[in-house]
Amino acid sequence: MHDFEDEEDPAAVVPTGEDWDRLAELRELFLSSEGGFQTVGYWNSRRDFELYDATFAERIGWKWDAVLAELAQRGRLPAATNVVDFGCGTGIASRRFVAAIPGVKHVYLSDRSKQATWFARDALKLQAPKLELTLHLPRQEDPIDVLLASHVLGELDAEGRAELTALARRAQFVLLVEPGSHLLSRTLGGLREELLDAFDVLAPCTHAATCGMFAAGHDDDWCHFFARPAPEAFTSAFWRHFSTRLGIDLRSLPYSFLALRRKGEPLETRGVRVLGRPRLLKGRALLDCCDTTGVHARTLFERDAKKLFKRLDRSGELLVADARVEGERLVEFRPLGDA
Ligand SMILES: C[S@@+](CC[C@H](N)C(=O)[O-])C[C@H]1O[C@@H](n2cnc3c(N)ncnc32)[C@H](O)[C@@H]1O
Repeated sequence: MHDFEDEEDPAAVVPTGEDWDRLAELRELFLSSEGGFQTVGYWNSRRDFELYDATFAERIGWKWDAVLAELAQRGRLPAATNVVDFGCGTGIASRRFVAAIPGVKHVYLSDRSKQATWFARDALKLQAPKLELTLHLPRQEDPIDVLLASHVLGELDAEGRAELTALARRAQFVLLVEPGSHLLSRTLGGLREELLDAFDVLAPCTHAATCGMFAAGHDDDWCHFFARPAPEAFTSAFWRHFSTRLGIDLRSLPYSFLALRRKGEPLETRGVRVLGRPRLLKGRALLDCCDTTGVHARTLFERDAKKLFKRLDRSGELLVADARVEGERLVEFRPLGDA
């Protein structure tokens, strides 16, 4: 008997010892397949989906929350009626998207595992009973407002990747969320370059210039961010168990992402996007700032930004800012949304 069995939600998944082992196995598989593509399906049973959905997918949901919050903060949320969730798994991406965007009427759930689409359908129906759901990709003549793809790039071979790119080219908006690894972040960067002929970048970039991570001297760097887990990650016995059994630090939720919009009205090019986490030192912090000039480590002195300094170590607080730089020093740094 686990000590979280009597927690408030009676429908909550209560993993057994075998379940934790299976989750560890799945995690190993995800980590080892990253970038080496998975040609063999790995979902074995409905229980796999339940376990995944309560744990890994939930964490992915927190990343989607961060991405959607950033788009909202920057006034760049897409409008959508028809949405495609490519490689949907248990459907966490579409569930988070539908919760955040009013007006979605039709979701296409697509996955090479039919059983995954069934699980995603049931979960989405529970959340939004009126949605029209189709368990395959749209036909050539069907419009795609938003293409969602989440934690799938690393599993795609050349054919899968071509399929995803072709779908992207049919969509008005494309939202891709991936783990915050060097490889997948750079894969996303490559996709960004590839699609820039037809799309503008809504986020994370503040500009449409070539990605600064591809400039000389940045081979070991990558564009990634840290999402803030939901409060229960730090208060519930379930997540404590998850962390202990799987050796995952719940405080760290790295992700990379890309939000594109089909070319239209020019987007404002303004401010710097802070990457990764500020590095706090005595009386100053180092911030990796990205703008049209590329990616640069800048120094923000505490005496120049006293109030702001206290917020620097909170994930998701300082995303885009108007900045004035002298040499390496940020002499002005005003986060978007701050008065
Ligand atoms: C790690 S899971 C992510 C699931 C979900 N998108 C999420 O964020 O939780 C990757 C999913 O992509 C699916 N997948 C892998 N290759 C695919 C392909 N070529 N076409 C469609 N789905 C694929 C897998 O079956 C799996 O459900």
